[in-house]
Amino acid sequence: MAYRYRPMHRALHWLTAGAVLAQAILGIWITQFEPADKVFKFLLYDIHENLGFSLAPITLVRLWLRRRHPRAPLPEQTPAIIEFAATANHASLYLALIGLPILGVLATAAWGFPFKWFGLLPIPSPFGVSDYWAPVFSYLHWLGAIALGLAVFAHVGGALYHGLIRRDGVLQRMV
Ligand code: HEM
Ligand code: HEM
Repeated sequence: MAYRYRPMHRALHWLTAGAVLAQAILGIWITQFEPADKVFKFLLYDIHENLGFSLAPITLVRLWLRRRHPRAPLPEQTPAIIEFAATANHASLYLALIGLPILGVLATAAWGFPFKWFGLLPIPSPFGVSDYWAPVFSYLHWLGAIALGLAVFAHVGGALYHGLIRRDGVLQRMV
């Protein structure tokens, strides 16, 4: 029977995809179309930070799942370069999904807003308020978001290439 990712892995994959889309919309909204209403603006920040931070544990669970249940290799006729590109792409997606929440926490702490996950669990940062580090972390967070966007673009392109051109069942492994 054709290989499919386990239901839990598929559920977390699509949850992540939805959350990343929401994060991009919220992040751009906050920075490019900053709402004048302060209460509403802070609500957007709250959603962005709490949802964004949730992606770190979700990604750790996914990494643990994939260690326990390694995925089947790509179909035999897949060129080695495609196999390599897919592995590099997945690695960069996982790296960004862990790195961005960390950079987000470092940035908010350095700007003077120490982060509490859903208002309950304080997430410590080795950097306190700092005029020097705050813009550096914000810049790295922005850079990371751009890198993630490019990786997602390539990823979706790859998924469509498998689904529409090669029609080799790889897209179906995740749906
Ligand atoms: C995978 C998770 C995340 C993604 C994809 C993401 C994405 C983005 C994007 C696209 C922006 C707008 C670009 C810019 O920086 O100018 C942004 C801004 C921002 N994000 Fe995130 N973010 C994530 C997690 C977090 C977390 C966990 C926090 C804080 C706890 C956070 C805090 C911020 C803040 C404060 C801004 C406003 C700009 C700044 O001061 O850096 N983000 N984010
Ligand atoms: C329309 C959007 C998307 C489609 C159609 C899609 C499709 C797929 C497919 C078909 C696979 C399995 C590839 C294989 O079997 O080798 C996969 C794996 C993966 N996807 Fe997506 N994806 C989408 C969005 C995303 C987003 C937004 C992220 C994260 C930001 C993401 C992260 C991953 C990761 C990390 C894997 C590797 C899973 C593993 O083997 O551990 N995907 N995706």
